Amino acid sequence: MVVNGAVNGSSGSSPSRAALANGSSGSGPTRTVLVTGGAGYIGSHAVLQLLAAGFRAVVVDSLENSSDLAVRRVAALAGDHARNLAFHKVDIRDEDALETVFASSRFDAVIHFAGLKAVGESVQKPLLYYDHNILGTINLLKVMAAHGCKKLVFSSSAAVYGSPKNSPCTEEFPLTPHNPYGRTKLIAEEICRDIYRSDSEWRIILLRYFNPVGAHPSGYLGEDPRGTPNNLMPFVQQVAVGRRPSVTIFGNNYATKDGTGVRDYIHVLDLADGHVAALRKLFDSSSNIGCEPYNLGTGKGTSVLEIVNAFEKASGKKIPLVIGQRRPGDAEVLFAGTGKAERELHWKAKYGITEMCRDQWNWASKNPYGYASPDSTKQNGSISH
Ligand code: NAD
Ligand code: WQD
Repeated sequence: MVVNGAVNGSSGSSPSRAALANGSSGSGPTRTVLVTGGAGYIGSHAVLQLLAAGFRAVVVDSLENSSDLAVRRVAALAGDHARNLAFHKVDIRDEDALETVFASSRFDAVIHFAGLKAVGESVQKPLLYYDHNILGTINLLKVMAAHGCKKLVFSSSAAVYGSPKNSPCTEEFPLTPHNPYGRTKLIAEEICRDIYRSDSEWRIILLRYFNPVGAHPSGYLGEDPRGTPNNLMPFVQQVAVGRRPSVTIFGNNYATKDGTGVRDYIHVLDLADGHVAALRKLFDSSSNIGCEPYNLGTGKGTSVLEIVNAFEKASGKKIPLVIGQRRPGDAEVLFAGTGKAERELHWKAKYGITEMCRDQWNWASKNPYGYASPDSTKQNGSISH
């Protein structure tokens, strides 16, 4: 693995040309993909799947919400494919740093994960979210255009739908996000649509993820939120390892099977594979992709109580529950229509909540404090297969 920035101990935020020149050399995979946000939860799993599928991956990440250890573990898990991985500590809001990356390597496509994702924080700090998620995306698109790289997979979200009246929610549903975070995703989607209208050489896939959970089955990669988790499963996981006393259920009087909210939880590995499928679509010259959205979910609705029960079974831990108020803005039921992704990307989620909870617990029990767990340095680059 070729590294720059924090992975090899330097704290600089701009990549050196020497490191990048090394990163762009080598034979092997035919296609090189720039992965922004590739040190993060979904990005790290996707990079591993890309390497396994024979792509070369260059990760740029500011490490704002992630650890360089995630990238090193991806390298360790990738075995021989690790030679096709490079990392650069770059903030995508720094256009010059991005320009340096693009000037030093030719990218066949970009997968754009980098951004902030906490809904509550986006309400408190909307400008921060517009800065990372919109300004960062505009910078990236400008530099891509300047270098003739016009294939993009963008991390969008089910948040663009707000609270649809019915599920399954298909890609044609109205786009009415409820919060600044969701609006940054919708605006970025609109920017992509406008770019395609202005130049039909662009090929863009907008992936709208539902509720990603789980971890790599090895237990070496997983979600490691900073501060109080915003989402249900990281919270449940922290209760299971003794970091928090209980989980508050946000309302048990919904018109659902057991009164709790229903969502479409999807294993992060299935999600990662969805990106490989999207790339294949972008590279398939027989298809006129344009700029298209696809839902990535399982198409199945699971209640809060059902997934907590599944986690208790997988972990053998009792999760104390407190019934609380509904969370403002929460949908009652939201799950994906997945037909379009199945038909056009030839992708379908393989895993159910049993595997999601099994792998989440495996990660949690091995890394109770995420990448900062006391013994985690032992797992640096020495993972056996
Ligand atoms: P994450 O926070 O683990 O990963 C995002 C990565 O982007 C982090 O490594 C972070 O350091 C990096 N980053 C943030 N701002 C950056 C910047 N300005 N420059 C460079 N790097 C930057 O989150 P994730 O769950 O892996 O999400 C990945 C993407 O998927 C995000 O765009 C998110 O909005 C989207 N998404 C996530 C979910 C979810 O529930 N996890 C659902 C739908 C969509
Ligand atoms: C799931 C269910 C809660 C926490 C969010 C974002 C969305 C996307 C995915 C990024 C709901 C309930 C939760 C808790 C609970 N992210 N819950 N107690 O809200 O469906 O989607 O993540 O793009 O944009 O909004 O996910 O995990 O927060 O909630 O009862 O402590 O769990 O009410 O029914 P959500 P979540």
